[in-house]
Amino acid sequence: MEKTVTLDDIVNLCLRRGFFYPSGKIYGGFRGFYDYGPLGAEMRRDLINDWWNYFVETRGDIYGIYGAVITHPKTWEASGHVESFIDYIVRCTRCGEEYRADHLLEDAGIKVVDLTPEELSRLIRENNIRCPKCGGELGDPQPFNLMFSTHVGPKHTKSSIAYLRPETAQLIFTNFKNVVFTMGATLPFGIAQYGKAFRNEISPRNFLFRLREFEQMEIEYFVNPKKMDECPYFSSIEDFELYILTAEEQEEGVDEARPARVGELVETGVIGNKWHAYWIAESLKWLERLGLRKEHLRVREHVKTELAHYAAQTFDVEYLFPFMGWKEIEGISNRTDYDLRRHMEYSGEELHIVDDGEKVVPYVIEPSFGVERILMALLTEGYTKHKKRITLKISPRVAPYKLAVFPLVNKEGIDVKAREIYHALKNRYRAYYDDRGSIGKRYAKADEIGVPICLTVDGQTLQDGTVTLRLRDTREQVRVGVDEAERRIEELLSSWPWRRGY
Ligand code: ATP
Ligand code: GLY
Repeated sequence: MEKTVTLDDIVNLCLRRGFFYPSGKIYGGFRGFYDYGPLGAEMRRDLINDWWNYFVETRGDIYGIYGAVITHPKTWEASGHVESFIDYIVRCTRCGEEYRADHLLEDAGIKVVDLTPEELSRLIRENNIRCPKCGGELGDPQPFNLMFSTHVGPKHTKSSIAYLRPETAQLIFTNFKNVVFTMGATLPFGIAQYGKAFRNEISPRNFLFRLREFEQMEIEYFVNPKKMDECPYFSSIEDFELYILTAEEQEEGVDEARPARVGELVETGVIGNKWHAYWIAESLKWLERLGLRKEHLRVREHVKTELAHYAAQTFDVEYLFPFMGWKEIEGISNRTDYDLRRHMEYSGEELHIVDDGEKVVPYVIEPSFGVERILMALLTEGYTKHKKRITLKISPRVAPYKLAVFPLVNKEGIDVKAREIYHALKNRYRAYYDDRGSIGKRYAKADEIGVPICLTVDGQTLQDGTVTLRLRDTREQVRVGVDEAERRIEELLSSWPWRRGY
């Protein structure tokens, strides 16, 4: 029997094999920060490249930018983050330890969705929640702004304060006019960017899930507000099936998602417009292409109290983590013209575009993906353990190595041939060569770090020019000629996921 994957399983594998390291470990660690190790760094690069390829490179209607991390302070006044980007903190009156108020309630098994400070306070008292560390009484919830600030320039005054961006999105809005003018963009079109975001989370936890420094991949897709239902690509996704949990259903106490067609969700008014529906479906198509199973993904609508200050309607894509339940990995919001209008107001600049001969301030649909949360979902989805043997069945698109080359034994010219093959293939595929320990141990390590294909050279190779390709997920072995190995590897990698009997 395979046992369910735990958070410890994922953390242990990541630390042991060099996917991630706790940042600043030699100084005792630094909560909320992780460094990517060699395997994680490769996965991250592949994930971001795959996202860019799917949403930017192969489309033609989305432009990519790469903005600054420390941003003009006015940006965050205009965006509403200075005023509204807060969580509530409670402090123990005895030991001074601080907690995020809603997390304390969640940990006590009480379901909370964006409550007011008064409601948080009432629930804490009614449920007699005390300081988890010392049992002391907790004070009243206080607002806490999540933005990290710094000082720009040598003088530290009030006017030198600037913020590290808590979302990449604002750089897209502040560059809207630049992209329109320099690229000649016309509606509808999108601007995409990936990069670091920073939030001073009160209680970072669950490994990569809640970090203080993380990475986002975001798109702002601009549409004429009168044309929110004129999506030329809609027919390509209207029959796409997904699992949905609406705000109304949640308000009635339902917490199970139901299967639905995208077309039906637009017809019944669940998703407010066709462009929003299109971006939900496209996001899911990409996540499924990466190997996340449909039944492990659901789309949950934000209930009213949960909506961000800028959003008219938001859907979260949630992944079913066996160890922490459904959790958000992507948010897809209809931000309307909120941001562009606020930036017009605060900067005095005109941020419109001409469409059908009219000046328009476009509406925006925003798919916002978190790199680390998606990596964590991919690692969880791929992790399998059978009789203490771990296999990481992740997509070749993001596997840190695509290929490993082994000589069966280290002698009789087998090693020379194996190195020759390795050198020929390593320019094409990210590969490693391993001749240490038994072949069984080498396969086990390759399975654990998610190498989809191992190529083994043996005595027969020297006689008939064939090698063995071993597939990670099925443990099947196929014998192929050296001269056709590259083509077969290519075929195999692009035909993942594999079933037995290839
Ligand atoms: P949560 O409700 O879990 O705090 P959020 O609603 O604040 O998440 P968004 O503001 O919608 O998240 O951010 C967009 C995406 O950025 C999220 O879907 C997630 O993938 C990622 N993200 C946000 N906060 C964090 C964080 N602290 N650590 C890692 N990723 C994050
Ligand atoms: N850009 C959406 C978010 O980070 O909340």
